[in-house]
Amino acid sequence: MRRGSEVRSAAGDARAIGVFDSGIGGLTVVQELTRALPNEQIVYFGDTARVPYGTKSREAVIRFSRDNVRVLLKERVKMIVVACNTSTSWALAILRKEFDLPIIGVIEPGSRRAIEVSAKGRIGVIATPSTVNSGKYAQTIQKLLPSAKVFSKACPLFVPLVEEGWLDTRVTENVAEEYLAPLKAQHIDTLILGCTHYPLLKPVLQKVMGRGVALIDSAAETAREVKKLLEAKGLGRLSRRPPHHAFLVSDEPEHFRGVAKRFLGQDLPHVRRVDHV
Ligand code: DGL
Repeated sequence: MRRGSEVRSAAGDARAIGVFDSGIGGLTVVQELTRALPNEQIVYFGDTARVPYGTKSREAVIRFSRDNVRVLLKERVKMIVVACNTSTSWALAILRKEFDLPIIGVIEPGSRRAIEVSAKGRIGVIATPSTVNSGKYAQTIQKLLPSAKVFSKACPLFVPLVEEGWLDTRVTENVAEEYLAPLKAQHIDTLILGCTHYPLLKPVLQKVMGRGVALIDSAAETAREVKKLLEAKGLGRLSRRPPHHAFLVSDEPEHFRGVAKRFLGQDLPHVRRVDHV
């Protein structure tokens, strides 16, 4: 019997869910996954040697994303979550064609939730410059709801502010006011946080936008989507043993652990450096 089928028959499918991101931000998705699927094991890969992706070209982001899938395949994962919005924008469709396992991105789940929540169909999207340039959120939302009006705004300073831990400083609030002013002027009723780092800015973003605007966190929506997929395909892990997560990066594991403490609010176990394959 093949090892894979042994693993599957004894305890459901015990293989891990692979998650990749350009660096640290995808840990917001890991956090939601562990909440929604506490019995699943996760292998996370952060491409810390090449972060940020949000200012890179389409070609570079596609190449990096392919490499990241190969790293996770070496870890024998059963499916892959592309936690990075920029990778999802440019590479998801290509990865799905090239690799033979289920791959979920963050844009469709977030967009679907936004149109469910939005009363007026006036939806704002904040994201990295590369994600905004791809037009992927606007396309996805308008495919789901052709009458929707989508207003996008690149917010490149948010990523470094979050990585510095400046989540609710005066500087961060001023930057948010500046970035969000054009979206407020459009009277949006829903705002998609289209970047892995932005869920950490929720309090400041809500304060600037006001209570009448719903904030959509793609991480939570993506976790729900992963849960549905595992159930539909019978890929869930049934073992009673506690799950064991692994964290891999392409550079600076200790720095990753430090910033991760802020993202997850808890210490990560050992973080291993791996090379792309
Ligand atoms: N992970 C990226 C995203 O969600 C943000 C950080 C970066 O620019 O690499 O778009």
